[in-house]
Amino acid sequence: MARSLVLIFGLVLTALGSFGAQQVEARAFFVFGDSLVDNGNNNYLATTARADAPPYGIDYPTGRPTGRFSNGYNIPDFISQELGAEPTLPYLSPELNGEKLLVGANFASAGIGILNDTGVQFINIIRMYRQYEYFEQYQQRVSALIGAQQAKQLVNQALTLITVGGNDFVNNYYLVPFSARSRQYALPDYVEFLISEYRKLLLRLYDLGARRVLVTGTGPLGCVPAELAMRSNNGQCAVELQRAANLFNPQLVQMLSGLNSQLGADIFIATNTQQSHYNFVNNPQAFGFVTSKIACCGQGPYNGLGLCTRLSNLCPNRDIYAFWDPFHPSERANRLIVQNIMVGSTEYMNPMNLSTILALDSRT
Ligand SMILES: *[C@@H]1O[C@H](CO)[C@@H](O)[C@H](O)[C@H]1NC(C)=O
Ligand SMILES: *[C@@H]1O[C@H](CO)[C@@H](O)[C@H](O)[C@H]1NC(C)=O
Repeated sequence: MARSLVLIFGLVLTALGSFGAQQVEARAFFVFGDSLVDNGNNNYLATTARADAPPYGIDYPTGRPTGRFSNGYNIPDFISQELGAEPTLPYLSPELNGEKLLVGANFASAGIGILNDTGVQFINIIRMYRQYEYFEQYQQRVSALIGAQQAKQLVNQALTLITVGGNDFVNNYYLVPFSARSRQYALPDYVEFLISEYRKLLLRLYDLGARRVLVTGTGPLGCVPAELAMRSNNGQCAVELQRAANLFNPQLVQMLSGLNSQLGADIFIATNTQQSHYNFVNNPQAFGFVTSKIACCGQGPYNGLGLCTRLSNLCPNRDIYAFWDPFHPSERANRLIVQNIMVGSTEYMNPMNLSTILALDSRT
């Protein structure tokens, strides 16, 4: 039911797009963040954080790996579909040229966090400050193509998605026992520090021209198959990482609402992917999943140890698994998450959902 509503809504939008005004293109879409939203930038880097080998991409239309950490589409892809647009290309893709630039770009890089010292073990990844440098470079390229004024408008009218923060726990604070950050900060203080650094990053994004920004919190970090395998002996979500997510997400929502008041507009939209994920975790069957604990691709308990590779166990039907690999949702879970982004209540989208944003912005 919800899915067909989304579909109909998408069709209406597409129809408006093609009949309403001939030259109106779908709005541009920009993506920043980590592996949950990387469309393949890391394929172009010397890093171990990559998804460029089978079985990644097994359900992508080409059946081949793309660099997405999914069996098929990821969250940005489904959002692009809602916008009536092609998927954004990775900024480092040599195909991102000319007219293609007007679709937007994906700057995300697997392994990065809010902090520069997150994901150091992955060596060569595009940290947030660098993603912003590329965004500036992108804007110069678009200016050269369509003029400075038009380029500014394209950026102001675009939709932006930023997904970052999970790695600041998993690949920093909790990466090793007695990590530098965990010796420096008690968890509540670390969360406060992350939120204050994230706030600076979001203000910078505003300065760079973003005016509608979906900001996802972390997922239920302790419930992913990797953590079930490493930190839980009875299949319950790992307590310490859950504590981290439960401290981080509400403070993020608060910080965003503070930013919006300060800026006098609903720029930042708190996107509660944790709740969507919890729904799968609490009642996988209600969403057509046989399990939310065992990854489709992996090895060891819950298929949660190590990476998803050609040698891993691989489930025959990816649609009935909430998790594709030890850390990342399956394509179908991503699709359900984007349904909540699109038409979810304020429990999922605060202060409003994406269908409301699209309707509002098309009137102004
Ligand atoms: C991250 O590193 C860049 C480049 O060295 C630097 O400009 C930036 O200030 C750093 N960010 C933080 C929060 O330390
Ligand atoms: C979300 O989207 C649906 C469908 O467009 C709409 O009816 C609903 O009021 C929206 N909810 C909020 C809180 O914006």
